[in-house]
Amino acid sequence: MQLNIQDTSLFVEDVGQGLPIMLIHGFPLNHEMWHPQITSLSAFSRVIAVDLRGHGQSPATEGTYSMDLLADDCARVLEVLQVKKPAVICGLSMGGYISFALYRRHPEKVAGLILAATRAVADSLETKNNRDKAVQNVIQSGPEAVIESMLPSLLAAHTFTESPELVSRIQAIMSQTSRSGMISALIGMKNRSDSTDILRDIHVPTLILQGAEDQIIPLTESKSMQAEIPQSELKVIPRAGHLLNMEQVGLFNQSVEDFLRLRFIG
Ligand code: MLT
Repeated sequence: MQLNIQDTSLFVEDVGQGLPIMLIHGFPLNHEMWHPQITSLSAFSRVIAVDLRGHGQSPATEGTYSMDLLADDCARVLEVLQVKKPAVICGLSMGGYISFALYRRHPEKVAGLILAATRAVADSLETKNNRDKAVQNVIQSGPEAVIESMLPSLLAAHTFTESPELVSRIQAIMSQTSRSGMISALIGMKNRSDSTDILRDIHVPTLILQGAEDQIIPLTESKSMQAEIPQSELKVIPRAGHLLNMEQVGLFNQSVEDFLRLRFIG
């Protein structure tokens, strides 16, 4: 369904009943990356999966998509859907950056966090420079050029040989991201603030998930988040890269379900 929020509208899937869980996708993807989770988790909870502005079926808007703006959008979605209880927020990569901003700005909306393939630190100078190059690449050669250059780092090496249909599906999802959506999100990620200062103040149960073969987020990042966040646990998913929820659906879903049942559902 399309929801009107603030200055725009967002596409949202809202499926199931019970504990609310919001799924926030990575860059440059959309809610379709969560299909295996929407199907499995909605059997026992209310799953809300959003297309961020400029991604998937949500139109692009002018200006930078700061992580704060995207977090406010997600908070507004929870309000418009009349979610009365705090939700478990599950963000992958850029979705994780947004989850930190959501916790910082709307802590009353957050019952728990699932941080997948993400990091608390801001971009290094080198990463900022790479974001600038990616923006130029989108302008000069179009979104396909960025998709082509990102793809090899998004998945574990064996996924390319063993699951070519998954690779094609991920390409198809990424190709739905608009040119201006891509640019606005790249600039938003480049300028995002460092979230390491809030880790010690996260007082909700937190599950950190890491693909053992992630080429973008090293395990050291996940370990340092786990060391800082008081009620957190870290699970490393074998034979998975950056898009671990799609590469290892069964292990990812089981880890999330175990966490939700232990900490929230009983
Ligand atoms: C993502 O998957 O959301 C991106 O790899 C995040 C990033 O580029 O920092």
